[in-house]
Amino acid sequence: MKAVVLVGGEGTRLRPLTYDLPKPMVPICGKPFMQYQLELMKDHGIDEVIFSLGYKSSAFEEYFGDGAGFGMKIHYIVEDSPLGTAGAIKNVEHLLDDSSFLVFNGDILSRMNLTEIMNFHKEKKSACTIVLTPVDDPTMYGVVELDSNSGIVNFTEKPKKEEVRSNLINAGLYILEPGILKRMEPARKYSIEREIFPAMLADKEPMFGYSYSGYWMDIGTPFKYLSSNHDTLTGKMPVDLNHREGIVYGKNTDISTNAVLTAPLWIGDNVIIKSGAKIEGPAVIDRGCIIGEKTKISGALLWEKTKTGNGCILDSCLIGRDCNLGDNVKIGKLAVIGSCNIIEKDRIIEAETCI
Ligand code: GDD
Ligand code: MG
Repeated sequence: MKAVVLVGGEGTRLRPLTYDLPKPMVPICGKPFMQYQLELMKDHGIDEVIFSLGYKSSAFEEYFGDGAGFGMKIHYIVEDSPLGTAGAIKNVEHLLDDSSFLVFNGDILSRMNLTEIMNFHKEKKSACTIVLTPVDDPTMYGVVELDSNSGIVNFTEKPKKEEVRSNLINAGLYILEPGILKRMEPARKYSIEREIFPAMLADKEPMFGYSYSGYWMDIGTPFKYLSSNHDTLTGKMPVDLNHREGIVYGKNTDISTNAVLTAPLWIGDNVIIKSGAKIEGPAVIDRGCIIGEKTKISGALLWEKTKTGNGCILDSCLIGRDCNLGDNVKIGKLAVIGSCNIIEKDRIIEAETCI
């Protein structure tokens, strides 16, 4: 089965990090988020993927190439202007055939059992299967109501609070029959959630919801993106990190014997941690970072080649690549520092500030 991955969004809520990298390419424990999705597909026998791209499209091709290095065939289709979540699918029609295909939203970290979902789709003779997950506040999502046979009876994108009648939401994965493409003209903007799903329901097409209750995280905000790194470290997001007592060490690290490291941690290749530094997990110090003497880091995420001075205090913050922090810099919880910033010594950056 082929998979279409929708990755045309600008990732505005993850700015300034997404000024440097598109959201699906931001690292989770040293590896682009999108690689986790591709590995999940590969595990379930999907080896042909079509990326539907817009914003910062070249970052994908530079990293994944033609896919051969990942045991896959990858196509890249770039939109001149955003065609919406359904227009983007119509736009790759020439790469699809007359069989069912998968569509992924490009910002969901999960361990869905794709094989089971594909079997469910076949058994139900479904025209459109939507994977569903329960959430506490469904108003930010597409909300789905089911009948007793898992048939979808209603789909409402981002309903008002008073309209919510279910806590099951669209988890961002569909299996579609190719007939859906007949509902659209080429080169026009369509939303699958607001236009196509409601139209299919009105036409009584067989649509089913597959309920998924495993790990699911939309990585779209600083809190959720940091949480997805923490969850990967703690094992809540079940992937094998090959750690030693909760700490993943890269190659050629230089960690002072006077530094105190508390698991779970991910430390990339060539990281230097100087004397008296304290790193408290869950935290990610990506490749080539240098941590100064007596610097305290707890819960933070540092992208590659960022350097801290001595005596800094970094609380659960997110720092892009190639930043340079002077001595005694303090950065508060969920502050986001974009790549290539220089922060002068003694500066205090309050929680939730973006720079
Ligand atoms: N190629 C392309 N073109 N991709 C697009 C476009 C477009 O015009 N617009 C959005 N996308 C991609 C985004 O990059 C993202 O991967 C995916 O489509 C969904 O768009 P978001 O902007 O992230 O939507 P959302 O998070 O508000 O809501 C969607 O996801 C929820 C689950 O997280 C909806 O599908 C909801 O129904 C769903 O519950
Ligand atoms: Mg999203």
